[in-house]
Amino acid sequence: MFKKVAPYIGENKKYTIAAVVLMIIGIFANTVPYFFLYQIISPLTKGESIDLSFILIRVIAVAVCELIFAFCYTQGLGYSHVSAYNTLKNLRVSLQGKMEKQPLGNIQELGTGRIKKVFTDDIDQIELLLAHAIPEGIANIAIPVLIIILMFIASWKVAILSIVPIILGMFAMGKMMKSGLSKMNAYYESAARMNNTIIEYVNGMEVVKVFNKDGDSYKRFGDVVKSYRDFTLDWYRVCWPWMAIYASILPCLVLLMVPVGSLFVIGESVAMDKLILVLCMSFAVGPSILKALNFAGKFPQLNYKIAELEKMMEHPPLKEGKSEFKGRNRDVSFNNVHFGYGEKEVLHGISLELKQGTTTALVGESGSGKSTLAKLLVHYYDIDQGSIEIGGQDITDMSLEALNDQVAYVSQEQFLFNTSLYENILIGKPGATGDEVLDAAHRAQCDEFLERLPLGIETLAGDGGKQLSGGERQRISLARAILKNAPIIVLDEATAFMDPENEEKMKAAIDEIIKDKTVLVIAHRLSTIKNADKICVIKDGNCIAADTHDKLLESSSEYKKLWEASVSASTWKIKEGGPAA
Ligand SMILES: Nc1ncnc2c1ncn2[C@@H]1O[C@H](COP(=O)(O)OP(=O)(O)OP(=O)(O)O)[C@@H](O)[C@H]1O
Ligand SMILES: [Mg+2]
Repeated sequence: MFKKVAPYIGENKKYTIAAVVLMIIGIFANTVPYFFLYQIISPLTKGESIDLSFILIRVIAVAVCELIFAFCYTQGLGYSHVSAYNTLKNLRVSLQGKMEKQPLGNIQELGTGRIKKVFTDDIDQIELLLAHAIPEGIANIAIPVLIIILMFIASWKVAILSIVPIILGMFAMGKMMKSGLSKMNAYYESAARMNNTIIEYVNGMEVVKVFNKDGDSYKRFGDVVKSYRDFTLDWYRVCWPWMAIYASILPCLVLLMVPVGSLFVIGESVAMDKLILVLCMSFAVGPSILKALNFAGKFPQLNYKIAELEKMMEHPPLKEGKSEFKGRNRDVSFNNVHFGYGEKEVLHGISLELKQGTTTALVGESGSGKSTLAKLLVHYYDIDQGSIEIGGQDITDMSLEALNDQVAYVSQEQFLFNTSLYENILIGKPGATGDEVLDAAHRAQCDEFLERLPLGIETLAGDGGKQLSGGERQRISLARAILKNAPIIVLDEATAFMDPENEEKMKAAIDEIIKDKTVLVIAHRLSTIKNADKICVIKDGNCIAADTHDKLLESSSEYKKLWEASVSASTWKIKEGGPAA
């Protein structure tokens, strides 16, 4: 377990070591007072007189010990927390870096709830390991071991009696861990299910409110919450009895020492003061062992969480090269591309050439694979067979950053961060000046709605951009792409939500920015791509025809069908006073 976390501790190791040393000193200082106690009691049992200064010195010594304990313990905890939280930061940053290089499919498969749980809750649990279990655990084991050795030196006969409760307590603890482990996986899985369902429920609140008020999602929500409760109680039910046993036995090392030890004294095989000395020392052992074992009880949970974290870290990342972009131009070629999201293949060997300075459009029925092809060009997923090249260089040969510099992608599902609209556009080109951002917004026809917003371009986008309409979100995403000004542009239904007037203006703006660029555009409204240099008809994951609009109308019955459907949809009118015709 430590091996897995150790690389992330890095230079913070010195703080962890300092914490362990301080805690050992602290806990040792906390046990020494029992020795002073013995020094005071022992002469009394022998009927010897002691003067006040003798007692006073020991009382002061006890106070000093406690001060040392308080200082070392708090200072030690301070260091261990510095180390822990820096390590948590390293873990999170590294996990985020790895997530960025993962195929999107892996991330979707894990679910937002589970990812959130690992990022926040599970990594937070590692704090317990680093800030407490390691330094306090080590100190709380080292000190009892030392004291027990001293107890044996003082009187092995009495000391051996203290071992019995320790063995019994550890046996109960082992039993608890074993029964707990059998329930733990089910417990954690139910926690992950609950997280995912709650997040899905909140994200889908809009749909739930309108369509599903008393239906499925409420029921599923209720079910996962109940099952989480059941699994939790199940887990505790098997652990509780053992917990009660070890928690009550372990601190009571005197259980046998007092009665049997007294018999030894009566039988004169052990001196009275030795019995008192060993008893005094044993008081320091119990609580420490209990604390150390409490941490031990947490280890299986931590192991599970670290394994979960590792699983996320170990998913094979996208095939990514280290090279810069070295293509001879910005021609894009899809060569016999096969791809499936899981077992089921979605694209069955698509070959397509996009020439620099031309616009290629993808058309086809919903679900035919258009967006999938676009996402493959931006390397959201690794393809199963074939290759995708830019200027002759395979996209898996270049780094994701290098590829990103080449392609601006406006996806079908626009996502805005909950920062200002200005910052959302700035993502396109982080070093851009204010004027460049405003110009991009202007060209993407954002002026009209930005003027209406109280804070204009400084308005917050809301969670995921929820405060804007679909068309407005689209325009901000386009402004982002315009600002990026990359040589290859992919527009997936980029103007689908716009009204005709804005769409016309947008088309003019797009026409202006796509000069000399390689453009891939996807549109359902075929009138918008009629003038594309090449139109590729996708059907069930195959490219069945590719040509200009006029030629396709003659040669492809599928295109003709799509065109006619698109034209009739755009001429739909609401009859006066009647239903749609
Ligand atoms: N993340 C995903 N996981 C699994 N299957 C997916 C995923 N995204 C898309 N698919 C499936 O892949 C196929 C192609 O989807 P794609 O989004 O490429 O279609 P499209 O042509 O863009 O459709 P539309 O015109 O409706 O946007 C569909 O059958 C879809 O169900
Ligand atoms: Mg699509």
